[in-house]
Amino acid sequence: TLASPSSLFRNMQDLNVWMSHGDKVVEIPEGFKVLASSPNAAITAMADEIRHYYGLQFHPEVTHTPQGQVLIEHFLFDICKVSATWTPANIIEQAVQEIKDQVGTDNVLLGLSGGVDSAVAAALIHRAVGKQLTCMFIDNGLLRLNEASQVMSTFADNRGMKVIHVDASPVFYEALQGVQDPEAKRKAIGKTFIEIFERESAKLSNIKWLAQGTIYPDVIESAGASTGKAHVIKSHHNVGGLPENMKFKLCEPLRMLFKDEVRKIGLALGLPEKLVMRHPFPGPGLGVRILGEVKPEFAEIARRADAIFIDTLHEYNYYHKVSQAFVVFLPVKAVGVKGDARSYEYVVSLRAVETTDFMTATWAPLPYDLLAHVSNRILNEISGISRVTYDISSKPPATIEWE
Ligand code: XMP
Repeated sequence: TLASPSSLFRNMQDLNVWMSHGDKVVEIPEGFKVLASSPNAAITAMADEIRHYYGLQFHPEVTHTPQGQVLIEHFLFDICKVSATWTPANIIEQAVQEIKDQVGTDNVLLGLSGGVDSAVAAALIHRAVGKQLTCMFIDNGLLRLNEASQVMSTFADNRGMKVIHVDASPVFYEALQGVQDPEAKRKAIGKTFIEIFERESAKLSNIKWLAQGTIYPDVIESAGASTGKAHVIKSHHNVGGLPENMKFKLCEPLRMLFKDEVRKIGLALGLPEKLVMRHPFPGPGLGVRILGEVKPEFAEIARRADAIFIDTLHEYNYYHKVSQAFVVFLPVKAVGVKGDARSYEYVVSLRAVETTDFMTATWAPLPYDLLAHVSNRILNEISGISRVTYDISSKPPATIEWE
């Protein structure tokens, strides 16, 4: 309930806010007045409007406070008098200048993964230093259908960027031979990636800088990880992660940006919307979507089935209604009929989730006709599969990926 008028709550009526805490303010400091109260906290908001001090007991930044965004705008624009200059065009201009100042005439190497962050970092650095940038794209054989050719056409053909394409699939498959455990697979993929990256980058001369698509949540996450307090559920090895002892200096132009900002600047830089708005894809790729040992023939099935699922989601206008969707390959066989004969073939599971932060997620209630269409296409078009299932597990207790 609003208690007295203020510029913070300008033109607002009593509002719903999200509060969850054990402590509360019991007495207002000198010079302050109570702006709002609630049955649980007599002092829900307070201010000393002469000195411009404001205090809230609730969370304006969460989605559970529906008018929180307006409150933050009042605070920033009316009270602090800042102007909204954090636009994609300004971010790009500032980042381009910073990259130029940072690297000067040196050469820069960047590992392109096919994901949004490294793509945007590449486009940005290319805008800043052009031919001084060399990108390396390592195909680990665990990518999505046609991903390698899409990366090459987007960056090399359409933008004229220098991209070295390393087809290292056989090396990765060999490193994964006989490896069953998900964490061991992540480590094998990560280690192989580093070895290949080191080997290939040693062939280039005159590179001083290594560029990475590190974004702000990665910075926070690695700060959290370094305290050792977080319980490791998955090592989340990002294949882009490189050892610290490399002899390059680091260029990370997206370090201070959130994902939605990275996407906006990607679009403003003219990257294709399909790439910029794509669902996240784990660093180890299909390596954690093929349960147990990874074999090239399993990857082929998983990749083709996944492409059918994703195409269908686009066709039914559901791709952007879910946060992440993919196919998981199960190395178990089930009985089916093909023509008049008994078949005995593999199982795949479709997975689609809705989430805002990927820490918790609910399975997506996709329409039956969409699921029927995917299932028919997978069973008719891909040999080696006898059953298509749909995963109806939310996180927790399940995780989004199956491994
Ligand atoms: P989980 O399976 O932990 O996934 O619920 C949460 C999000 O993280 C992604 N994920 C990974 N990303 N390397 C990555 O770069 C990994 O090893 C990895 N494992 C899971 C997953 O796709 C989802 O978006």
